[in-house]
Amino acid sequence: MMLANTKTILEKARKGNYAVGHFNINNMEILQGVVQAANNLKAPVIVATSEGAIEYAGINFLHDLVKTASELSKVPVALHLDHGKNFKIIKQCIDLGYSSVMIDASHENFAKNIQLTKKVVEMAHKKGISVEAELGTIGGKEDLVHSKGIIYTDPKKAKEFVQKAGCDFLAVAIGTSHGAYKFKGDAKLKIDILRKIKMETKIPLVLHGASGVPKDVVQLAEKYGARLEGVKGVPDSQIKLAVKNGINKINTDTDLRIAFDAAVRKALKDNPQDFDPRHVLGPARQLITKVVEQRIRTFGSVNKA
Ligand code: G3H
Ligand code: 13P
Ligand code: ZN
Repeated sequence: MMLANTKTILEKARKGNYAVGHFNINNMEILQGVVQAANNLKAPVIVATSEGAIEYAGINFLHDLVKTASELSKVPVALHLDHGKNFKIIKQCIDLGYSSVMIDASHENFAKNIQLTKKVVEMAHKKGISVEAELGTIGGKEDLVHSKGIIYTDPKKAKEFVQKAGCDFLAVAIGTSHGAYKFKGDAKLKIDILRKIKMETKIPLVLHGASGVPKDVVQLAEKYGARLEGVKGVPDSQIKLAVKNGINKINTDTDLRIAFDAAVRKALKDNPQDFDPRHVLGPARQLITKVVEQRIRTFGSVNKA
């Protein structure tokens, strides 16, 4: 199949009340692990590259890897730019034929966020590429805003934002944050706010910072030397509640990083005399497939390809 159309995938999810997985990739093994899981479960999938991933691997490498993966795939595979902040990179993605791009101007004031999002919408829509924007702040370990606390998305502002900026999907801040340390106490999302945003907007909503940080994978990584005290993700029950109340795209990166780390540590420790990279990275690819399958089941997109 050709690279899939993100808007088609997500509008179908919105009408069918389920969520499609967005998974961040940085290299071939992570990509193959993700796409294998989607094929195993006959689920559509969105593969995402951050600006950091593009800086690490090169945009042409990543684009061509995902294009090849989609051509070999029996299920729709879309390619998305995650957290686009640099207009030069956003434009490169549009010119290369990404399925969709995110403009993340959530750190700007409301008017400036609308203005920058609108600019990207105008560029992308000309080429049939859809646009995700963000309103509110989704914290993260490197994010200075996070130290001041999360600013939840205001439902009334969300309506005005979508009308004025013309984005196709909206990332909302309802209590999640990026990385492996999401909650100190109880993990609880603001489902009441999500419900209101859903009533005010008629487009697919996106949940960032949604990794579950699964205990079994964390324990495996720790068994082989990782130091992960205090990690905490979003429980599956909260993810299911978010999907039921209007989330149609769910972003996962941290879970894949921990899985990759755990499998590589295990392979190196179990076979110290084996220096074949395929024997180190192959198990990482396999564990990523397992983790992604579990995510897809939770999102409700099995057999939706
Ligand atoms: O939301 C951010 C993603 O986890 C990407 O992270 O910028 O380190 O590639 P990165
Ligand atoms: P996690 O850090 O929870 O995996 O979130 C990833 C994300 O939101 C990518 O945009
Ligand atoms: Zn994110």
